[in-house]
Amino acid sequence: MSLTPIGGRPGFPNHDDLRQKITTASLREQKLRHEPIACLTAYDYAAARLVDEAGIEIVLVGDSLAQTMLGYENTLSVTVDEMLHHVKAVRRGVKNALLVADMPYGSYQVDPKSALTNATRFVKEGGAEVVKLEGGEKRADLIRRIIDAEIPVAGHVGLTPQSVNIMGGYKVQGKDLAAIEQLMRDAVALDRAGVACLYLEGIPREVAAMITAEVSTPTIGIGAGPECDGQVLVFHDILNLTFGTPAKFVRRYGNAAALITDAVQAFRADVKSHAYPSDEESYHLSKETKAGLDTVLERKRAIRR
Ligand code: KIV
Repeated sequence: MSLTPIGGRPGFPNHDDLRQKITTASLREQKLRHEPIACLTAYDYAAARLVDEAGIEIVLVGDSLAQTMLGYENTLSVTVDEMLHHVKAVRRGVKNALLVADMPYGSYQVDPKSALTNATRFVKEGGAEVVKLEGGEKRADLIRRIIDAEIPVAGHVGLTPQSVNIMGGYKVQGKDLAAIEQLMRDAVALDRAGVACLYLEGIPREVAAMITAEVSTPTIGIGAGPECDGQVLVFHDILNLTFGTPAKFVRRYGNAAALITDAVQAFRADVKSHAYPSDEESYHLSKETKAGLDTVLERKRAIRR
């Protein structure tokens, strides 16, 4: 057997520089060193390259692509095949980051066998290194089975968007003592099941801090305060590409919407005024071919006269 470097698979980019390759083990070491972990979503090749090359440790192909990329109302409609289309594109752009893929709603809730089949597709077809699924202690057995099939799993508790109809909206979770206890049980159960990391979404800072101190797996927060081992935000949120009022925890790091609108309007104006393309932006015939063409055209004109 020859040794294939982690992340280096036939048909995928050649990973020759392994110095900074992030693995599930290196994430745990980061937690132990108290070195914050940065995670961003990416859904296509260009974004994946930019995020990876900026040194982000985890690239998450989140099912939030249902809204950001596909315009669905929530994450419930997106399918495994739609997710895989994006995971494959992101795989081609990611070199050093750990690639985590969300399992969409319906792909793991129905029965363990189809959950395993779907998780395997994300690894085999998509090139994901970790699959993420939502839910607490009730998912622990399933998570063990997926890990038994050699697939690392990321957990996701708190405000879990796939449970929007059960939660009655996107509401901060873990606000009373009973809910805090349940969240702690969920986190501990997933930690014991062996999750590679645990996403904490939409919970009070104090609760996220308690969970982070309790579990050995790295916690990655979104709307969960600064004490988590890492932070994740949605690519489109940090760049103002979401067309709505952002959640409280979103920080805008750029205004891609304004940049894109300005560029598109400028292009339109140039086309309408014949300012684009210029002669420098056009291809030309060689002098000899141009002279030959002029002669042919002149002869044709002479015949017509
Ligand atoms: O789908 C997603 O983008 C997510 C994160 C924001 C945690 O699950």
